Amino acid sequence: MHNFLLTTSLWLEALVKHEVKKQGWEITEVQDKAIYFQGEIEQIARMNIWSRFGNILYYVLDTESEVTDFDSYFDIVFAQDWKKYIPIGFAVHMKATSLKSELWATSTLQALGKKAIAKKIVGDGILSEDDGLWVIEVRILMENNTLRILLNSSGAGLHKRGYREMTWDAPMKENLAAALVVLSGWKYKEALYDIFCGSGTIAIEAAMIARNIAPWRRRKFAFENWSWLPENLLKIEVEVAASKEFTGMYKIYATDIRKDIQHIASRNAWFAGVGDTITFGSQDYKSYLRRELEGCLVTNPPYGLRLEDTNVDQIHMDIAKLFEQNKNLSWGVITAFPEFEKLSKLRYKKRKLYNGWEMCYFYKKEQN
Ligand SMILES: C[S@@+](CC[C@H](N)C(=O)[O-])C[C@H]1O[C@@H](n2cnc3c(N)ncnc32)[C@H](O)[C@@H]1O
Repeated sequence: MHNFLLTTSLWLEALVKHEVKKQGWEITEVQDKAIYFQGEIEQIARMNIWSRFGNILYYVLDTESEVTDFDSYFDIVFAQDWKKYIPIGFAVHMKATSLKSELWATSTLQALGKKAIAKKIVGDGILSEDDGLWVIEVRILMENNTLRILLNSSGAGLHKRGYREMTWDAPMKENLAAALVVLSGWKYKEALYDIFCGSGTIAIEAAMIARNIAPWRRRKFAFENWSWLPENLLKIEVEVAASKEFTGMYKIYATDIRKDIQHIASRNAWFAGVGDTITFGSQDYKSYLRRELEGCLVTNPPYGLRLEDTNVDQIHMDIAKLFEQNKNLSWGVITAFPEFEKLSKLRYKKRKLYNGWEMCYFYKKEQN
């Protein structure tokens, strides 16, 4: 068995726990933004391509408690089999964090850690620093004097699925969008609406969830350069994932007032493999006030933190009106606009979530 750490955003831990358990692995520890678990080595590929809510999957090389002096720290780092993990020609990026520990100086942890690795690999020589080379990221975590030595197997954060090639003003992270779809309780046979869809992230994630498409798309993982892993690890897992995809008829509608949206969001959706599953359109949200809606509406309206966000009060009032008019519609709204609660007599459950650095609330209709 091998040890892993899957990091996530604050308040998404329960969803990550669920997706780890779904793969059949045992969770060993849960902290804020961090789920530790044990699994087979295949997990490196499987979890990286399947995690919808995680940020980075780390392979845990070693865990040692009561590490309180730099000599012991150096020896523990030195003791790892670095020649196996860092092939010749690779640069080492060392990152360190320390919380409630005697060894709190992260710059020293980084410098000493790198020295220990260099000593093991090249004797008294120096490791390559060239950023242009392939990189292995080694992360040192000190917490309550427990040292963990980790290898970043994902590379860039897993929310970067790779389908959103065209940028947008305020795109939501893909793993947050996936979380909103799940938290909203949408049932795949019902219609799903996003009436402020921007780059289409919520609709795209919904379509991928409904069709059981692995969230990974068009991206590279750091572990693809790890020569010590069994051959074809990624290829095998990708083939298994492809065999699990569903096709079917889904009613997913995503609209935005911006006219260019059809092009941008729909292109993203095709890159994600769900271009034929979503209907995009350009339309003012007000047009929905004249319609009867059933199904589930999940959306992220402009909430006033950006210069171009105008009429935020009116928009939130209208959203509340739309929900009051459509008793059969379930809904979930993420917003940082605090007055939303006062504008309506809606019954909802709310939970805190971060959209990037912005603290928001996700309001979900309370079912009778
Ligand atoms: C916070 S952004 C949504 C971002 C989106 N979740 C994403 O991941 O890209 C809010 C969106 O509301 C749209 N919007 C603003 N006023 C609108 C209106 N009257 N009707 C429909 N959409 C509107 C903006 O164009 C913007 O794309």
